[in-house]
Amino acid sequence: HEIKNPLTPIQLSAERLRRKYRHEITGDLETFDRCTDTIIRQVGDIGRMVDEFSAFARMPTPKFGSHDPAEMLRAGVFALRVASPDIAVEMAEPPEGLTFTCDDRMVGQALTNVLKNAAEAIAGRSGAHEKGRILASLHADEQAMCFIIEDNGVGLPTRDRDRLTEPYVTTREKGTGLGLAIVKRIAEEHGGELLLSDAQTLSGARVVLKFPPVEQASAKPKRTKKVTDGV
Ligand SMILES: Nc1ncnc2c1ncn2[C@@H]1O[C@H](COP(=O)(O)OP(=O)(O)OP(=O)(O)O)[C@@H](O)[C@H]1O
Ligand SMILES: [Mg+2]
Repeated sequence: HEIKNPLTPIQLSAERLRRKYRHEITGDLETFDRCTDTIIRQVGDIGRMVDEFSAFARMPTPKFGSHDPAEMLRAGVFALRVASPDIAVEMAEPPEGLTFTCDDRMVGQALTNVLKNAAEAIAGRSGAHEKGRILASLHADEQAMCFIIEDNGVGLPTRDRDRLTEPYVTTREKGTGLGLAIVKRIAEEHGGELLLSDAQTLSGARVVLKFPPVEQASAKPKRTKKVTDGV
């Protein structure tokens, strides 16, 4: 908070200066614009980084409740579509009627971080490319429940892959490297794990959030039978 509190007034002041004096500038308008834009943009970046630092430092203990994982994935996909309209964010028809005992905000945060990485990996491509694509899916069986996110971005770095989930490990200029560290911690708090590999359907990365198996609503008798058969 001590860092974050002064940021808003700095940003608002810069915006105000721009609004108020921009039309009075007769000389070097370009420099004026560039400088004010830089202040506003960088301050915004600092604010976002501070948010991430503090989220990681005081990661709350999960408040478990019953939630629909399909709904959670839909929410993440929807938010990403709004934020990145140039990327085709596809979602495979998820299994319905699942009940996931989790802290929905934390798992939502994990999904957001993973989806954001996918979008950034796409933005990080250089040269002419096919349209950016992200595939999100949900799978559930007797062994596990998985959220799977694939992209056609730059792909995971080849070296030191297993270190990517450590705090502050980043290959992006503006990354803090906390995204996946947070995801890993959230997964582990839910008895799950975070798996990173090359994409199978697309050309980039594949990120799997794997959790213990979840309950399926009795509306699906097929599955109930399967379970009894197995016993
Ligand atoms: N979908 C992906 N495609 C390619 N590389 C990825 C992908 N997701 C993560 N990475 C790699 O893992 C690194 C760590 O990711 P992480 O989310 O922890 O940090 P970041 O995205 O760099 O920064 P932050 O999330 O804190 O803004 C990234 O810098 C990138 O090299
Ligand atoms: Mg990230």
